[in-house]
Amino acid sequence: MLDRRVNAAVLLACMVSSATAFVPSASNHPVRRQQQQEHGVRSTTTIFAPLQAASIETPPSPLTAWGDRISDIRKLQQEVKKQIIPEFGIELSAADVGIASDDTQAQLKYFQENAMEIKQKMQDHGAVVLRGFDLMKTQEGFQEFYNALGMKVCQDPLQSVSARPTADGKKDSPVYEAVNKESRKNFFIGMHNEFVGTRAPRAAAFVCFKAADTGGEFLIADGRRMFRDLDPDLVEELYQRNIRYSVMELPFFGWIDNFPEPIQGPIMAGIKGLVTAAINAKVDFDVEMLWGESGYDNTKMLQARAPKQPPIVVHPVTGEPTWFCNVHSHSSKLRKDRESIYGAERFEDGASQINKSDMFFGDDGNLSDEQLQHMDEVTMKNVRFVKMTEGDVVLLDNYKCMHGRNVFDGTRKHAVAWFEGWEGEEEMKKQNAKVEALAA
Ligand SMILES: [Fe+2]
Repeated sequence: MLDRRVNAAVLLACMVSSATAFVPSASNHPVRRQQQQEHGVRSTTTIFAPLQAASIETPPSPLTAWGDRISDIRKLQQEVKKQIIPEFGIELSAADVGIASDDTQAQLKYFQENAMEIKQKMQDHGAVVLRGFDLMKTQEGFQEFYNALGMKVCQDPLQSVSARPTADGKKDSPVYEAVNKESRKNFFIGMHNEFVGTRAPRAAAFVCFKAADTGGEFLIADGRRMFRDLDPDLVEELYQRNIRYSVMELPFFGWIDNFPEPIQGPIMAGIKGLVTAAINAKVDFDVEMLWGESGYDNTKMLQARAPKQPPIVVHPVTGEPTWFCNVHSHSSKLRKDRESIYGAERFEDGASQINKSDMFFGDDGNLSDEQLQHMDEVTMKNVRFVKMTEGDVVLLDNYKCMHGRNVFDGTRKHAVAWFEGWEGEEEMKKQNAKVEALAA
């Protein structure tokens, strides 16, 4: 028992000093405060310092654009069912536009001259899969590519906790590893929008520098079709009750069960107080600590839960409703179900175990197994497996397009750059407003 208590202390110290994957971040920004009020996001007691920029040149990931509250979600879904949604994730190859795959200068020129058209395709189709452009086989060429398009690069949303390594190992690089770790190869990364606490990049470019020997496909899923295809009762319930993530699990409190029952309560209250104080003193986000039981082995654990949020948002440029919910990657049940196919997750250190997440209704109620099953089915129905080879890039809108990664074998080197926006975005917004006014 003593050993486990020592372990608990070590792991807690580790967690507090390196917090962690899915955590919410700074909320003392006036815009965010307004967003919290508009969406009824629960505010807890602590307001923290803003994220620190790692580099002067690269701005932080932008605040999440929650958009206006949708007054009648059921009716909106009915309307979407009648509309034709453009084909998802179209492909564009160098051969399609008459450029040799090794003519990198012509490719750069092509991206400069057709930047708006390509960005419009990203808006219309959620994602564009670019193939056969040797320009993007190197990190330098990849950066030239997105600069030529006028994409405005930003930091990783996990930057404040330095959780994601850069592709070239340089501290201030804006190109990050896209989960290539050998230790994570049998972990199927479920579909998600990139989102950490209050921050979400607007768009992203995922590039393949080296394909895995087998598997390792990049996965994309269409948020607009996801919203369209979900059961209307579930959509209504999720939207009315909102959703809430558990962002950390501290799973090492089973030893409390060894104490007589009457003193377990006071011990748990004391630990919860200590952990809350330790976390609040260290990190820059609002969390509430709750006692629960691990879905894996029913041992006592403390969960840190983020503020509630809507699972569907209207797109910041086009106003279209889109699924913006990471249940597929965050649900403990869905991850456990996948383990029965791909094998158990390997936890190499305490920190990765702490990062285990889950999702609940905004009022802390549990989603039923049937509801989770349904969301899994609709997600997988809308997923595309994109087998990428060296130099291939997927340019995607982070609100309309979820992403994930298949299991793999061999060495895999994929990378990602995040964008806070792009040149020409304001014109796109104005154009959309004009179309809406004409349609009204
Ligand atoms: Fe991601």
